[in-house]
Amino acid sequence: MEKYFSTIIHGDCIEEMKKIPDNSVDLIFADPPYYLQLPKGKRLKRSNGTEIIPVDNDWDSFESYEHYDTFTHAWISECQRILKPTGTFWVIGMYHNIFRVGTIMQNLGLWFLNDVIWVKTDALPNLNGRRFTNNHETLIWSVKSKDCKKYTFNYELMKKMNGGKQMKDTDWIFGLCRGNERLKDENGIKAHPTQKPLKLIQQVILAASNKGDVVFDPFMGSGTTAVVAEALGRKWLGVERDEKYVHLAINRVKDFIAKKV
Ligand SMILES: C[S@@+](CC[C@H](N)C(=O)[O-])C[C@H]1O[C@@H](n2cnc3c(N)ncnc32)[C@H](O)[C@@H]1O
Repeated sequence: MEKYFSTIIHGDCIEEMKKIPDNSVDLIFADPPYYLQLPKGKRLKRSNGTEIIPVDNDWDSFESYEHYDTFTHAWISECQRILKPTGTFWVIGMYHNIFRVGTIMQNLGLWFLNDVIWVKTDALPNLNGRRFTNNHETLIWSVKSKDCKKYTFNYELMKKMNGGKQMKDTDWIFGLCRGNERLKDENGIKAHPTQKPLKLIQQVILAASNKGDVVFDPFMGSGTTAVVAEALGRKWLGVERDEKYVHLAINRVKDFIAKKV
């Protein structure tokens, strides 16, 4: 196990997780494909004329709900297997996928602790005014099975971070990842379409792990989980299918370590 720490494995997470022993990680944060089903290449404009670049990447494309569910079942089963009985498993998603993901998790025997709502302070408006602005994402927080009662939860720290009041599952209010935090390519375009805010993942890791614990992310993307885990003194490892993002994430962690030293 030790040999994998502080690495982002380039590969398919289902295949790579098969190499990880049972009951070996303390916290899993997973931000899987959403299966948004957006038409490829369609560009919408904001009222100020700037383009909105949607998530229409190949990694978010599936042939059907059946294919998405088969994929979801396979990666979640592996996460459940490698999670310690004292560990917890977090999955973030939107209304497009979170209900399918949640059903599969419950069918596999994972036990829900909370559905945490990340309320976005600056979500994009609904452009055609045909529905409400979607202003949140859901994080399902779970344990391996119903009998796993001794999981890590840093209750007092969360209370302290919430001004001395018990933290609610809706007290997760953060802006989207913007400004200096947002990684850009050489043309100034977002380097990864769904980079999550550091603060969100920081709250997850602080709530549900301790220094030296092993944090795993099967969908590493731009490396947000790796940077936060590194900053908080956790051991970490992850998987990412797209080579371009593997390099992006590795360089991001290296930059972080260089600035820290
Ligand atoms: C929603 S993004 C994760 C974003 C990440 N949380 C961040 O902050 O940058 C999902 C990522 O999973 C990757 N991915 C999709 N299918 C995968 C698979 N089967 N195995 C490993 N990575 C995969 C995609 O390339 C994409 O970068």
